[in-house]
Amino acid sequence: MTEIKPLRLAVFVGVRGRGSNLMAIHSATQDGRLSGEVALVIGTKPDAPALLRAQEAGIPVAVIAPGDSYEAQLLATLTKAHVNTIALAGYLRKLPEAVVEHFRNRIVNVHPALLPAFGGKGMYGHHVHEAVVAYGCKVSGCTVHFVDSEYDTGPIVLQRTVPVLDTDTPETLAARILPEEHAAYIEALQLLAEGRILLEGRRVVITSGSPRS
Ligand code: GRF
Repeated sequence: MTEIKPLRLAVFVGVRGRGSNLMAIHSATQDGRLSGEVALVIGTKPDAPALLRAQEAGIPVAVIAPGDSYEAQLLATLTKAHVNTIALAGYLRKLPEAVVEHFRNRIVNVHPALLPAFGGKGMYGHHVHEAVVAYGCKVSGCTVHFVDSEYDTGPIVLQRTVPVLDTDTPETLAARILPEEHAAYIEALQLLAEGRILLEGRRVVITSGSPRS
């Protein structure tokens, strides 16, 4: 029987992100769909909209500006808050190597396309959806993946697809994908909490859950 280890999550947000993934994760911890809590939200600028939403929701926040001691400050802050899992939600920087190492296979990100297509440096937010529509793809979706030292290259935990319609604009496509991001992120994090994610090389294998009584 798999033992659930509740997540103590640090959610890293970006300067411009809306914080919708952060709030979806937080809501899931509040209503029991996700075992654990958002222990901390980390951003680089105090006026980031996602940080303000976190504060309004009563979630502890930390503002750590990239600089000489960025890596050390992050590690000290994460350790002090007893964080065991990191979720990136609109954080556009590469995480410092020491953080990636310390939390290896405990850091996840959601990307608004089907990796490995439409990923990599500079491929974020509307840039992704514009590229998908311009290319003429018939499906798109989202990818939850582990984070390594590169952009969008870590092992894929799960993906969800949506159709791309002939009438789509980048905005309508983004709106169709966003709820899938939220659902996929919560599902992937719960799998992590339940210890059901096995890595075989870069392939993720989801083990079956214990039977419910
Ligand atoms: C999402 O589109 C996610 O896929 C990407 O950054 C965006 C963050 O949006 N990684 P939000 O701040 O969570 O609303």
